[in-house]
Amino acid sequence: MPISAESQGVSRRGFLTRVGATGGAGAMFATMGALGLAPSAEATTKVPFQPPQASDFRLRGRAAAKVVVLGAGVAGLATAYELGKAGYQVTVLEAQDRIGGRNRTLRGGDRLTEIGGATQRIGFSGDTYMNAGPARIAQWMTTMDYCRELGVPLEVFTNSNAEAYVYNESSGMKAPVKWRTAKADVYGYISELLAKATDQGALDQRLTSTDKERLLSFLSGFGAIGSKTNGFAYTGGDRRGYSIDPGAGETAGTLLGPPPSLSDVFASGVGRYFSFEFGYSQAMLMFQPVGGMDAIPRALAKAVGHGRIRTGAKVSKITNLASGVAVEYERDGRTRKIEADFCVATLPPQILAKIPHNLGAPVQAALKTPVAVSTGKIGMEYRSRWWERDDNIYGGITNTDLDISTIWYPSTGHHGRRGLLVGYYNFGANADAYARLDHAGRLSRALDMGAKIHGDKYRQGIAASASIAWIRQPHIEGGWISWPSRGAEYKLLCAPQGNVYYAGDWLSYEIAWQHGSFESARKVVTELHQRVLQG
Ligand code: ALA
Repeated sequence: MPISAESQGVSRRGFLTRVGATGGAGAMFATMGALGLAPSAEATTKVPFQPPQASDFRLRGRAAAKVVVLGAGVAGLATAYELGKAGYQVTVLEAQDRIGGRNRTLRGGDRLTEIGGATQRIGFSGDTYMNAGPARIAQWMTTMDYCRELGVPLEVFTNSNAEAYVYNESSGMKAPVKWRTAKADVYGYISELLAKATDQGALDQRLTSTDKERLLSFLSGFGAIGSKTNGFAYTGGDRRGYSIDPGAGETAGTLLGPPPSLSDVFASGVGRYFSFEFGYSQAMLMFQPVGGMDAIPRALAKAVGHGRIRTGAKVSKITNLASGVAVEYERDGRTRKIEADFCVATLPPQILAKIPHNLGAPVQAALKTPVAVSTGKIGMEYRSRWWERDDNIYGGITNTDLDISTIWYPSTGHHGRRGLLVGYYNFGANADAYARLDHAGRLSRALDMGAKIHGDKYRQGIAASASIAWIRQPHIEGGWISWPSRGAEYKLLCAPQGNVYYAGDWLSYEIAWQHGSFESARKVVTELHQRVLQG
């Protein structure tokens, strides 16, 4: 899972990467120098993607095939876009009355309906929006390449912020602490312990005397600890922050502190969140499209051509034929049928599994193997940006062990009049608990939780709010899916059955990221095109 992958062990290289993420390249190279390692020029190799081209057909004297794509989410639109480049006759069928799938940006005037009929009329003002689905893009992701190609303007998404908070109620914390303070204390005490152990010879089997010197030198800076003469003690310092900031003249500032005891710091569990920002997918810098994530599907749909996309078209039967495929769908109260040479099914597997087909029992069993993951978010538009004014928080995320999991502060619009906080982004049982409530209940519960961090002002000045429970979204029914293992079922669906292909983030190694959808679309488009050229 993308979220939990960060709890893995730390290799020496991983450790260095993390130092780089925390202290910048200067700190990393200094560390590498201290550890006696030379910088490496190793870089990631991008797998080149050659989109189908009209000239491929002209050269081989073949005709472009007809393809029906099921689903106008990111995978479906990307499939249609890439096939369209070569002149394939593509039709996209989308059950909803909108495109984008889980890439959904909620704005004022939108309606959000859940399974069961509960409908929110979104009352956000002006340009205020909430990215209900994907909300951040890593620089290495293929999503960035599509933004470049399609002219989708980007801006920085702030995924971590020293001024945001950590709050663990279950460990008895009485008040939130700033990320910077929590980090200073955890890094400080870990450095103290490691320095003591190193100095006392506990690591002599692993370290040469030169290694030890270099490690001690590194720890001195990494943890801001004392020297050997005072036992390498961590005693706090300005990294923790100030109660009165440094100013002019005689105002040197008043330090926060002293730090809690080592035992109390570890008991608080604040350190459990730090590895998040070291993850390959979550490390800063991250990006978002200006004005809302749905700029991506909108740009894709424009490039595909709106005439090729049928919304309100709910697929009711998929029939693999000897030389093509037939797809039936309901639209405007009538059953319609489309025939094509190929079908690319990009619906979530739990939705595909409900559609009658002749693809065989193993396919049906495979479609039912992954488990839908529940996730939800609430967006709350405030009439003032009090988190900037009172807490110096300009973007980033507060982490908690409450059922809201996190609070997100807006990455843009700083010092504007209004702003939108994401009051929860949670998963699993916590997301289910909120999904069971109506919107008013979700808001009330989220405010009770957030007030534990921000106090009573958290409940005041809310102009509008909207919440999404992905497990309750028609035609989607989940935030993403989880494979118990990528076994035979996964492999089966990574290949076509007859003339039917499957694509989506659920058939990638980056589930729950648009990157996975784009990569899966590219893979299927490449395979289908090669087959057509050879056929
Ligand atoms: N891509 C999802 C996120 O960033 C999992 O939270």
